[in-house]
Amino acid sequence: MRRDIVPAGAESLSYEIREIVVIAEKLEKLGLKLTYENIGDPIAKGEEVAPWIKEEIKKLMDDDETWAYCNTQGVLATREFLAAKVNALNGCQITADDIYFFNGLGDAVAKIFGHLKREARVIGPTPAYSSHSSAEAAHSGYEHLTYRLDPNNNWEPDVDEIYNKAKYNDSIAGILIINPHNPTGATVSKANLKRICEIAEELDLFIICDEIYNELVYSNGEPVKLAEVIGNACGISIKGISKEYPWPGSRCGWMEVYNKNKDPQFAKYIETILKAKRLEVCSTTLPQKSIPIVMGHKNYPAHLKMRVDKFEARANEAREIFGSTKGIKFIQPRGAFYMTVLFEDGVLGKNKTLHIENPVIREEIERLCKGKIADDKRFVYYLLGATGIITVPLTSFYSKINGIRLTSLEEDDEQRRKTFCLIRDKMIEFINS
Ligand SMILES: Cc1ncc(COP(=O)(O)O)c(C=O)c1O
Repeated sequence: MRRDIVPAGAESLSYEIREIVVIAEKLEKLGLKLTYENIGDPIAKGEEVAPWIKEEIKKLMDDDETWAYCNTQGVLATREFLAAKVNALNGCQITADDIYFFNGLGDAVAKIFGHLKREARVIGPTPAYSSHSSAEAAHSGYEHLTYRLDPNNNWEPDVDEIYNKAKYNDSIAGILIINPHNPTGATVSKANLKRICEIAEELDLFIICDEIYNELVYSNGEPVKLAEVIGNACGISIKGISKEYPWPGSRCGWMEVYNKNKDPQFAKYIETILKAKRLEVCSTTLPQKSIPIVMGHKNYPAHLKMRVDKFEARANEAREIFGSTKGIKFIQPRGAFYMTVLFEDGVLGKNKTLHIENPVIREEIERLCKGKIADDKRFVYYLLGATGIITVPLTSFYSKINGIRLTSLEEDDEQRRKTFCLIRDKMIEFINS
């Protein structure tokens, strides 16, 4: 090209959860049978759409309005319904004007970070969810700024670290929270969430809280939403239906803006995001129209409870399988459908391997593991080559801790148990190799 057309920060746009699939598909052609343990799509993992939800969506198809563009901010009746839900929490009070729809939270995240001033940084958790960390790093042109979630304290955020980093680095304009969290399945306690809001208020920062899993909190987690504890800080909660109905293919999510008018800079920033959205006209109409009908349906509370109970039971099943194994540490999740298994310090190294029967696949894995590669990523490649199971190393989530992320989405009980047991056995074989 006559000119360099690649922007600064382009290297930061990586999504290893999907990138490993490209490698796996190459190996599939060599005869490997794949098991996808890397994706957060309940439908792809066999969850059936509730028949009553399907029926409601079919009825909407008969309404011609469903086929039209909608308001740029989103369908008004839906925004009114969602605003009333927030207001019923008796915390921050909002109106339909404080809600903005996007084509999934992926779209919301891109716009939230993409329209932030380049020098304004957002500090987020490590382990990080790749969409956020990549978007923040790409917008700033620097490494993503992080605060630690503590594996020895149920992955709770280190609030003192947040305070100190934010206080002494004046480029930090915002704090990102993901609650419940991907990739750990952790939840943030009410006390810590409140403390983070107080920090934001004291230091004049805004909060972004990803609450896409907020209706998937287990009995051992504290169900608290940002709106309940935000106080006077400026904040954004992002929510969606991808994981909740679940309907990830709907590409439908929204942001709720709290205390927009408490700070003119914050109000202007939100207005910029809306202006960017106007260029695209609007977000998907059909899923938006379904929200008051589905979420307001008499079956919905029981539907949510059934799903929470299911994922909690599977987390307990994983704890039984991984729990008391030497060299690894299972951290009990409290929500969503993810969990982490960590390698204990000192058990990994550059010479660790797994037996791979097929010589061509073995050669390919050895080639992938040459050079500088994180120890847990090395395990993930060997696990793939030896078993066809695709997992994601924890170091791919902007973390220094070695481990893997598991999901509890597999609907086939026997298959899920078998996969968990095989992963555990391969972790032991790898450690002892
Ligand atoms: C924490 C978190 N936020 C956002 C998303 C993306 O959601 P959407 O399907 O609405 O783009 C995901 C998807 O896995 C997620 O885990």
